[in-house]
Amino acid sequence: MSRQLLVTGGAGFIGANFVHHWCQAYPDDRVVVLDALTYAGNRRNLATVEGRKNFCFVQGDICDRSIVDQILQSENIDTIAHFAAESHVDRSILGPGAFVQTNVVGTFTLLEAFRQHWGVNSKPPAYRFLHVSTDEVYGSLSPDDAPFSETTPYAPNSPYSASKAGSDHLVRAYYHTYGMPTLITNCSNNYGPYQFPEKLIPLMCINTLIGKSLPVYGDGKNVRDWLYVGDHCRALDVVIHSGIPGETYNIGGNNEVENINLVHMLCHLMDEFVPNLPVRPSTDLITFVKDRLGHDRRYAINATKIQNQLHWTPSVTISEGLRLTVEWYLQERNWWEPLLSEEYQAYYRKVYSYT
Ligand code: NAD
Ligand code: DAU
Repeated sequence: MSRQLLVTGGAGFIGANFVHHWCQAYPDDRVVVLDALTYAGNRRNLATVEGRKNFCFVQGDICDRSIVDQILQSENIDTIAHFAAESHVDRSILGPGAFVQTNVVGTFTLLEAFRQHWGVNSKPPAYRFLHVSTDEVYGSLSPDDAPFSETTPYAPNSPYSASKAGSDHLVRAYYHTYGMPTLITNCSNNYGPYQFPEKLIPLMCINTLIGKSLPVYGDGKNVRDWLYVGDHCRALDVVIHSGIPGETYNIGGNNEVENINLVHMLCHLMDEFVPNLPVRPSTDLITFVKDRLGHDRRYAINATKIQNQLHWTPSVTISEGLRLTVEWYLQERNWWEPLLSEEYQAYYRKVYSYT
């Protein structure tokens, strides 16, 4: 069966990787991207699919019900892959309002529009609403705690994770109340091509290249589980095709790494790849800075449900994935340089006020 997909947030990091994956794997499917092109959205992320006859880009806000209704009807959408969000924890600490608006109100708007569209079309069993969420909704783990499973109680700690938790609850409620065929995925930290410079891995790569200090929060011993973005996209593909409506699937890379160790791995790769770095060894740039407010100590994912039930496993190891990512940022200077805009510098000064 061919699908008509609406991908919200498809000009962002994971959304764009997902669009590339989908267009390559299912060239007969229709893919419509709805994206507001906030600071994190970039039409150039979709350059390789623009011009395909089965692809269409619409600039618009997921909170705008009339645009959403119009796309659902005119494109006869049967599947929503919902990525659009405010996604950066540090920005949520500076200004939580946009997170509540897009992540909660925007998700609610999409759910209402899809409920109507699904109902008007006599509730076809093949329709799907995939809500792409995060492991951060489960809160923070201590070193000896078991990894998050799908039954771990929600305990979000940042305005970002609280707004994602709110949207997860709404999605869950639409399945339980209306029987709408929703799916939720909660994934760990992604990395790879097209990630906006504010996030840890691109920030460290770019700062090394331009000889700027590498700011590590607190003692650097916070732990994240890292998943290569291509593996995440494959997981979302199997969830759309084979996931059971109403279910939640945790997705993770089984790659727990302390931040400081990850930064050292990146520095070694940069030293290896770039002979003329402004500062060598690049570990000399590492600077411990004031900790993020409410900084979650550790995330870890138990992904046995998706592995056993949908036969998905990650395929890219952390050392392979970091190599691919570093190479991409080295080759794509023309992609990231324009993103270090005045707006970005102002944001940077606010978060890293010591610079
Ligand atoms: P991103 O910030 O790179 O991209 C978000 C995209 O959404 C941008 O293109 C932006 O323009 C768009 N957008 C924002 N507000 C919008 C609005 N009101 N209407 C329409 N478009 C809007 O985010 P990302 O890292 O690609 O994350 C995508 C999704 O995956 C998010 O829902 C996030 O919570 C989730 N997630 C991210 C990670 C990660 O490590 N990055 C891990 C797990 C889950
Ligand atoms: O766990 C999934 C989440 O991963 C997603 O839901 C979020 O959208 C995504 O942004 C990411 O959140 P994190 O806060 O974990 O990612 P970030 O890249 O901002 O930070 C990773 C770790 O590195 C975290 O412990 C904070 C630390 N850090 C981050 C930055 C930007 C630093 O030490 N220095 C930095 O400059």
